[in-house]
Amino acid sequence: MKAVTVNIDESNSLKLEEVQKPSIGPDEVLIAVRSAALNHRDLYMTKQWQPLKGYGTFIAGGDASGVIVEIGSSVSGWMLGDEVIINPLLVDSEDGPNFPPFLGGPTDGTFAEFVKAPAAFILKKPKYLTFEEAAALPLALSTAWGNTTVQGKLQSGETLLLQGIGGGVATFILQIAVKMGVKVIVTSSSDEKIEKAIELGASYGINYKKDNVAKKGMEMTNGKGVDAVIDSSGKDSIESSIQSLSEKGRLLIFGSSTGSFNKEILNTVNFHETGMVSQADLKNALSFYAEHEIHPVLSPKIYSLEEYKEAYEELEKGQQFGKIVIKIS
Ligand SMILES: NC(=O)c1ccc[n+]([C@@H]2O[C@H](COP(=O)([O-])OP(=O)(O)OC[C@H]3O[C@@H](n4cnc5c(N)ncnc54)[C@H](OP(=O)(O)O)[C@@H]3O)[C@@H](O)[C@H]2O)c1
Repeated sequence: MKAVTVNIDESNSLKLEEVQKPSIGPDEVLIAVRSAALNHRDLYMTKQWQPLKGYGTFIAGGDASGVIVEIGSSVSGWMLGDEVIINPLLVDSEDGPNFPPFLGGPTDGTFAEFVKAPAAFILKKPKYLTFEEAAALPLALSTAWGNTTVQGKLQSGETLLLQGIGGGVATFILQIAVKMGVKVIVTSSSDEKIEKAIELGASYGINYKKDNVAKKGMEMTNGKGVDAVIDSSGKDSIESSIQSLSEKGRLLIFGSSTGSFNKEILNTVNFHETGMVSQADLKNALSFYAEHEIHPVLSPKIYSLEEYKEAYEELEKGQQFGKIVIKIS
């Protein structure tokens, strides 16, 4: 089958090649991939990401939607032809000495014609979504649910500062938080992205390239500061995130795309590390998402597998608003 592979121990090692079609174990299903989606972690895989050093070559990509084409002998509850999405985090707890099995690094991922996954980590594709839309969900929705609900515990009426609305996870957080009755102030490098975020329900936007985020945030909250900040940019935004908080405000951090920073700065604030949720919580997130008939925001250009390089380039440039999708079949 055709697949985009990456060697974690070499830089710029992405390639489209013919590889062996996966064979499944008794607890697994084989899925014919219809669409896949990119996440920031896919970029890390092309840059010799330190936590996976020594893992060698694997198929890239964490997110996918598709159709079940083979079912392991011990699997129940699924049928051939079922339309599904896959949770890329193939364990319920990330604790432990080894890196957890995760599609697209270190486990073979979704940028391929077929992917295998344990049946315990697949979910029904919501019927109202296209395969392209559904592929965008798993990783970003899981992380957004962690930030808004399971770990973030946002409450209706609270004010949230959401840094970097162009980010794939950020658009999911915005959509969920708005439905929860949270007032969301977004930041972005782009006025166009801010306009789009306001169409999705954001109350205000601050262009972090032009304005002082903390000063504007204080003005927008009458000098009180926000109840919560969600930050995934790290080095370049952490100071403005801290300065924007109200006295008891909490800082939720799920990534550091612009680089790591000195963690001592967090000692003075109510800080929580957030991230993806368990399979059971992801099911709840999916129910919430479907109940409100939310559609994910997709970047307009849908790529083919052959165009994988352009898809990675779009993510690298950070010009997208929403999720970048590759249509596979
Ligand atoms: N812990 C977990 O479970 C988990 C899960 C998912 C992701 N992550 C991590 O979270 C991060 C984001 O992932 P993603 O896939 O959403 O990334 P992404 O789609 O590549 O988005 C990155 C965004 O960061 C924003 N940004 C850059 N510089 C900024 C600054 N100075 N201030 C505010 N925002 C800034 C940009 O927003 P604008 O375009 O609007 O300027 C950009 O679009 C990555 O580091 C990823 O590894 C962690």
